[in-house]
Amino acid sequence: MGSDTESKSVDPVEALKLIPPEPTKEAQFKPIQITSGSKVYVSKDNEYRLAEILALHKKKGKPVYYVHYVEFNKRLDEWIDESKIDVHRPMFLPKPTTSKKDVKKQLRKKVVKRGAAAASASASASASASASVSLTPESQSQSKSQTHTPKPGGEDEMDLDDLNVQGIVREGEELSREDEIEKLRTSGSMAQTSTHELAKIRNFTNVIIGNHEVEPWYFSPYPIELTEEDNLYICDFTLSYFGSRKQFERFRSKCTLKHPPGNEIYRDDVVSFFEIDGRKQRTWCRNLCLLSKLFLDHKTLYYDVDPFLFYCMTRRDELGHHLVGYFSKEKESADAYNVACILTLPQYQRLGYGKLLIQFSYELSKKEGKVGSPEKPLSDLGLLSYRAYWAETISVLLIENGTTDVSIDEISQMTSMTTTDILHTLQTLNMLKYYKGQHIICLTDQIMENYEKLKKKKKHTLSSDKLIWKPPVFTASQLRFGW
Ligand code: ACO
Repeated sequence: MGSDTESKSVDPVEALKLIPPEPTKEAQFKPIQITSGSKVYVSKDNEYRLAEILALHKKKGKPVYYVHYVEFNKRLDEWIDESKIDVHRPMFLPKPTTSKKDVKKQLRKKVVKRGAAAASASASASASASASVSLTPESQSQSKSQTHTPKPGGEDEMDLDDLNVQGIVREGEELSREDEIEKLRTSGSMAQTSTHELAKIRNFTNVIIGNHEVEPWYFSPYPIELTEEDNLYICDFTLSYFGSRKQFERFRSKCTLKHPPGNEIYRDDVVSFFEIDGRKQRTWCRNLCLLSKLFLDHKTLYYDVDPFLFYCMTRRDELGHHLVGYFSKEKESADAYNVACILTLPQYQRLGYGKLLIQFSYELSKKEGKVGSPEKPLSDLGLLSYRAYWAETISVLLIENGTTDVSIDEISQMTSMTTTDILHTLQTLNMLKYYKGQHIICLTDQIMENYEKLKKKKKHTLSSDKLIWKPPVFTASQLRFGW
């Protein structure tokens, strides 16, 4: 699987659009006709790709468009100017989305709120009125205004309960404010899938983390005034953020923090790990969540950090411990997850740190005497990294033990991986064979080859004896996370 392409299944009609048709001599549309949600062909890396327009804006008086390349990861979304759009190939207008069911649902909510029998009558009347309007993109906006039930006083109403500010309400889902808070508090996750429109557009172009300059991948809810600045500066010790270099440098000259604000529970020649309690270090952990949201899309982080412990991996130099990556872990996981969110900062990616983070999460599970698995869904890069770790761990274990005569349960006990993850890995690696009525594990030539390559790479791994840690115990009241 390529790391920048999406692997979800596509509607065959939509799939046809992915192949750019021959351009015509005459222009097929004018740029002024482009609306948000339309799809056009855009020149990217010497080819034309189908791209959805997510936003339009004017920069120095000229229109710019924020585009998402269909079937490619959101990481590649970007602002482009008009010259990249091919007007000699077709433009596809967005499909109308307001269904009769949606209209009824919206109205039902308002009716309940206003509690008036009269409103109920007007609701069904306007619902049937809207259903008869033809749903071209233009008439859709008309239908919206037709279905809008004005306030009895005639003035417009802003429905505060419907503001999905934190983006935790999934499409098609109805949640009251109370339910929303409850869901945030008890979902067992600091991360929820976001469908909020705003979250579609990357809000920073450049981020300076310590001495590294990186390009963020996704939206992160930093204060809006900072998004107007060219750069976002982040102190890699306190994770505090600034809109100007001057402010950042003034802060750094006074800052005395030299490591993440928790106990160092692991140290070897290369890395250290710190354990940080979200409840005790709220600001630091919230800053960490904001930072990691710049590189994590399929989950949206919230400021409810109390239910989590954060395990931060650092590298040392004369200035102190610089953050390389981290994973969060629920203090109590009903689903036996041993990782909630995991991240290697982009400047350190593809150097083997992700595997160290994953290895560390399993070392903790071994000390707890439990099996664990990462919280689902995994991102594309998360899945690649976990698959690589699982495959490597199982192969090394079998080869170095000199026997494949072990059961899945035994592998699970030795590695703290779940039997599901082990079976999935063995199947993917083609290591399960059906022989004389039962499944047996076997080492393939490919596995042996990979093992030899791995030995040559001599990648750093953690030593379990350097972990100085006892699983933290929390009382029932410490596990009550009030708002
Ligand atoms: N392309 C192809 N394979 C990759 C890629 C990539 N871009 N990145 C990782 N891999 C695979 C490789 O097999 C690699 O092993 P190899 O280099 O020996 O071939 C293996 O994953 C591990 O690579 P590492 O260098 O150890 O991992 P890294 O430090 O890059 O961190 C991580 C991996 C944490 C997933 C990182 O990519 C990241 O932070 N991504 C953004 C956030 C994210 O998606 N997190 C996971 C979300 S799921 C969850 O939170 C439970």
